[in-house]
Amino acid sequence: MDTKAFVEKYLTDRRETDSSKWDQLKEKFGRTDLLPLWIADMEFRTCDAVTNALMARVRHGIYGYSAVPDSYYAALDRWMTIRHNCSVPKEWVRFSTGCVTGIAWAIAAFTDPGDACMILTPVYYPFHNVVTNNKRTLVKVPLQYRDGYASMDYESIEKAIVENHVKLFIQCSPQNPMGRVFTEEELDKVLSICQRHQVLVVSDEIHQDIIIGKNPFVPAATVKNGKYQDILIILNSATKSFNLATLLHSHIIIPNEELRKRYDKFASGMNRTEVSIMGMLATQAAYENGGEWLDGLLAVIRENDAMLRQKLKSDLPKAVVCTLEGTYLVMVDLRAYMPSGGAQSIIQDQCHLAVDYGEWFGEGYEGFIRMNLATDPKLIEEAANRLISVLGKK
Ligand SMILES: Cc1ncc(COP(=O)(O)O)c(C=O)c1O
Repeated sequence: MDTKAFVEKYLTDRRETDSSKWDQLKEKFGRTDLLPLWIADMEFRTCDAVTNALMARVRHGIYGYSAVPDSYYAALDRWMTIRHNCSVPKEWVRFSTGCVTGIAWAIAAFTDPGDACMILTPVYYPFHNVVTNNKRTLVKVPLQYRDGYASMDYESIEKAIVENHVKLFIQCSPQNPMGRVFTEEELDKVLSICQRHQVLVVSDEIHQDIIIGKNPFVPAATVKNGKYQDILIILNSATKSFNLATLLHSHIIIPNEELRKRYDKFASGMNRTEVSIMGMLATQAAYENGGEWLDGLLAVIRENDAMLRQKLKSDLPKAVVCTLEGTYLVMVDLRAYMPSGGAQSIIQDQCHLAVDYGEWFGEGYEGFIRMNLATDPKLIEEAANRLISVLGKK
């Protein structure tokens, strides 16, 4: 299916459907007349395979206690193997109601109050809060930013680990909001530092399927033929890829048996490890029959990215659209047009856009905005035009 046909078939009006993105503008931004490009979900209906699986269950009408069938694990393993060259045996898999919840549970299972947990900033803002809200010490190491591209600063990472006695590194790969898809070499370097200092790694790989550029996604579990599996807790789900966020179903994948035992001991204390039947059915259907839909979606995101870049390059030449290797969330460095700050009032009150602001993700990113490209190309065009017409005069 070409991109035009994909948009025509799946684009859906979300207004007045209890959508956070569209119906909570007032609560979040203080006004309703904004074009929403914030938060990470999409205006595209999920694939037909998911809808059909859920409809069949709705017709059946029973949502009682359920088990995860072997066919579910086979679908997950097949998806991970075919798409990412990473076999995931059934024994490794546990479930949670979301990847951020997975981070919180990993923190609870593998660290004690006061322990140091490290993140690389800028990063998805719940990474910050989930550490501090759980009374752990947050250690932030900035990524190195240069000309729209972020990379890891290994020396600073190692120094921070040693000086703060870091116990857990919460990695975001692919990286939100900088759009990086780290190479095997980069991952090898950071994971080897962690291994050397006995730091466990929670690798949030929720954006694994949204690969836009040339770098293939490398699951942490496959780096150097699995060399780091014993320090890894991997989090992923079909929720970003297939627009299923509030079906509340995600994976906690733990290759090492000892770590699994520690996790299971913690989980038994929570006394609830069943999954949501709708989340499970949707995920299985997506993995079994959603590949073509996902490829159609990726083509739309690539076109939106190219359009935004082309328009800003020609009419707002000092804007830096960060390289988008993965995720559908692109950072745009607008500092040249807003040198004295005030980005929020310019972007909201003059451009009438609802975006995520750079400073939400980390210090030093005032004047950056994060835009969500998984939407109607017309909205991306309109957003670019608004930026050009307001900022072009500054
Ligand atoms: C890196 C990352 N992790 C987790 C989430 C949220 O996942 P969940 O809704 O499963 O908690 C997001 C959403 O944008 C994200 O970007």
